[in-house]
Amino acid sequence: MQLPPITILDEKDKRLHQISKEVVFPLSQEDKKNIKDMLTYLKMSQMDDYNEKYQLRAGMGLSYVQIGILKRIFVVVDEVEDNVFQDYVLINPKIISNSEELIYVGEGEGCLSINRPTEGIIPRYARITVEAYDVEGKKFTIRVREDLSVAFQHEMDHLNGILFTDKIDPKAPYKNQEKMREI
Ligand code: NI
Repeated sequence: MQLPPITILDEKDKRLHQISKEVVFPLSQEDKKNIKDMLTYLKMSQMDDYNEKYQLRAGMGLSYVQIGILKRIFVVVDEVEDNVFQDYVLINPKIISNSEELIYVGEGEGCLSINRPTEGIIPRYARITVEAYDVEGKKFTIRVREDLSVAFQHEMDHLNGILFTDKIDPKAPYKNQEKMREI
């Protein structure tokens, strides 16, 4: 596999704080290629050989804005077993229902645009149902839970110009921890 030629914006880039625009179908060939490249990049970042060879930071999700394009698209790659991946591509996603239960990632969330250690936790819905469009413009509904639910919510925040670090109160980075379940 060859490392796709994508550049991921750093948190200092102002575009990461802008709101991405709804996608109008059909997608261009360029959009389709970018989506494929983002999926390949994430997969390679999660595979030990490539991770080492290219000095990658392992990532589960990427939003389009992170490659500098303000369109409401995100991808997530979930390793379901050793080197077996499930791809998710969501375009114009909307949460249509959510659990009351909140969870948080105990070790803290990560983001390929944030290249420094961070501290703190973010409340996320344990389960969400999302309505979105696929690359062909077909509408679908997907229900996700646990780490996938966190990843989807993290990426949807990106589409609204929000980084996970924006959601952490530096004076109380573990606020409300007792009201949530750790994953
Ligand atoms: Ni991120």
